[in-house]
Amino acid sequence: MKKYVIAIDGPAASGKSTTAKLLAEKLRYIYIDTGAMYRACALFAEENRVSLEDIPSLAELLERIEIRIEYSDAGNRIFLNGKDVTARIREADITKLSSEIAVIGIVRKKMVELQRKIGREGGVIMDGRDIGTVVFPDADFKFFMIASVGIRARRRWLEARDKGERLSLEEIEDELIWRDRNDSTREIAPLRKASDAVEIDTSSMTIAEQVDFIMNYIGKRKMRSSYRLLIFLLKITMRLFYRYRLIHGERIPQQLDLILAANHISAYDPPMIGAIMPEEIYILAKIELFRNPLFARFISYLNAIPVKRGRVDRKALERVMNLLRHDKPVLIFIEGTRKSSQAKAGVGKIALETGKDILPIYVKNSNRFWDCLLGKKRLCIVIGERIKTSSLPLQASNKENYRLIAEYVLNKIYELDNECQDS
Ligand code: DC
Repeated sequence: MKKYVIAIDGPAASGKSTTAKLLAEKLRYIYIDTGAMYRACALFAEENRVSLEDIPSLAELLERIEIRIEYSDAGNRIFLNGKDVTARIREADITKLSSEIAVIGIVRKKMVELQRKIGREGGVIMDGRDIGTVVFPDADFKFFMIASVGIRARRRWLEARDKGERLSLEEIEDELIWRDRNDSTREIAPLRKASDAVEIDTSSMTIAEQVDFIMNYIGKRKMRSSYRLLIFLLKITMRLFYRYRLIHGERIPQQLDLILAANHISAYDPPMIGAIMPEEIYILAKIELFRNPLFARFISYLNAIPVKRGRVDRKALERVMNLLRHDKPVLIFIEGTRKSSQAKAGVGKIALETGKDILPIYVKNSNRFWDCLLGKKRLCIVIGERIKTSSLPLQASNKENYRLIAEYVLNKIYELDNECQDS
């Protein structure tokens, strides 16, 4: 199986390292605490009495520094030029100095080089401040952990108390506030959430919940390799032959646990929408498509769910709701068939009964292959704003509301046509 690079960033005491350590154990990955590397640099500067203003001497130190991480289930040990400094680098003076030394360009350059070297084979979880933004901007998974400063201070205070250190909660909180500011306002690689990172507020989460959240997230995102390959080929086709444009792709949520609702103009709509989604999606397909056993196997492999048309297919409905309840994304063509332009009530029922939100998707010109190829048209897919089911004014489960919701969603979809007028 593919070995991923997983980036976890966030401020101090947001839960990164404990979570990352446990995840690494579960996944049998290497865990790299990049903060420890900056801490080791700080300690080296301190031991050699090199001031942080003295850049030439620092550069010389960096030539001589050797940071080694020994991985073990009992926790990693950090060696600085052969000496075990695991405990020493956690002391208050080094903590402060590590944030100060992390501002310096040559230090960061050296650390980033080392980190990239360790992570290049994959199978690694790295935590820090700039992993998702600078060290591995193409990481397979990026998480950004946050928690209120009060909660973070309390966590650190409990840790310190367990180690027999006497620090007041205020002292710890002040130090965290100072470090947050220093880490996030520096010029080079400041602490910042990558635009494609998943934010996790750990303020009221247990460690087990944090680990479960990430494991579930990764599990859901795992695509079968042949599915991944098909998507890759499809995307190339869409670019080359259909000159495809995706509008408002940023509206595709990181957590795809919702109903994808689209209009339907071509038999290629389902795979095309599937191709732009970051995880495997499920699609309702008319049962007639399953007549040919070979084709049936193919589309079943692509997560197609057979649905009988013309009346309510309870079995299909149940399957869809089950998938959604398990946070899987299901694509529904609101009009049912390509020929209809009327909203079918099903989407309203599914939304109200599962409480899942709806992501409107508008597809244009997927049925104009030749026009696209000849440069007259372009395939255009527009992502609408997420419709929050819980805030719809129609909460009672009845047929009239199902229909009204479906019509509302269909209108939202067709409004998106404005976004690709020039296609
Ligand atoms: O995660 P930590 O508290 O051990 O990190 C110590 C300091 O190192 C932190 O205040 C800022 C710096 N650091 C950084 O600048 N970039 C990283 N990727 C990790 C840590």
